[in-house]
Amino acid sequence: MVRLLPLTASDLPALYRVCRQTGRAGRDASADHDDPDLLGHHWAGPQATFDPALGEVVVDDDGVCGYLVGVGSTSDFEVWCEQHWWPALRERYPLGAVRRASDEALVRSIHRPDVTSAAIAEPFPAHLHINLLPRAQGQGLGRMLIERLIDRLERRGIGGVHLGVDADNARAIAFYRHLGFAEVAVEDDGGLILGLRLGVPR
Ligand SMILES: CC(C)(COP(=O)(O)OP(=O)(O)OC[C@H]1O[C@@H](n2cnc3c(N)ncnc32)[C@H](O)[C@@H]1OP(=O)(O)O)[C@@H](O)C(=O)NCCC(=O)NCCS
Repeated sequence: MVRLLPLTASDLPALYRVCRQTGRAGRDASADHDDPDLLGHHWAGPQATFDPALGEVVVDDDGVCGYLVGVGSTSDFEVWCEQHWWPALRERYPLGAVRRASDEALVRSIHRPDVTSAAIAEPFPAHLHINLLPRAQGQGLGRMLIERLIDRLERRGIGGVHLGVDADNARAIAFYRHLGFAEVAVEDDGGLILGLRLGVPR
């Protein structure tokens, strides 16, 4: 039986595992990184810690098989990360240590994280990350998680939500477009920023 459960701090190791196992444009990225936690430090941990009330975990008989994490205010989140999330990681992952290039790129992002432009953060203040293991995909869980997030954001009066997706992740891009997200920006690496206005008929 599959259940959606509220996110708690004790879920973080499972979130990091699912993040890693879906981190190569939706496929398993475990072999891409020597450090198993670097993806989670960016795309699961800080969101789950900053705004846990927006997150949910998907649990089946074999354990956590997916999650959604989100933040209501990306600009507040980025300020919080500078104060509370990145400093300890900057000590743990100094620049210039010998590492695989894929790991070093993520370490550089710990020291110089991207800042979301006002052109995105003003119309689409919230952002989300959703990751389901293959055994949880294609059963309507993705739609359910996004719709439940939208409901929570609209109850907070938030006017829009955005997300970043790898250009190679055609399946996820098609899924988001099917749910009404539209392209709002293209990143330097070709990744897409998709956005959805909230509080308006879809
Ligand atoms: C992308 C992902 C979140 C989609 O979730 P999902 O549970 O597999 O999708 P659902 O079964 O809820 O599909 C919801 C709807 O989208 C449609 N859809 C899903 N994938 C689609 C695709 N590739 N093309 C067109 N429509 C698609 C479904 O047909 C369904 O339509 P309906 O509700 O109108 O009948 C999930 O597959 C996943 O986590 N993948 C791996 C990690 C990942 O890539 N995350 C995104 C990183 S940005």
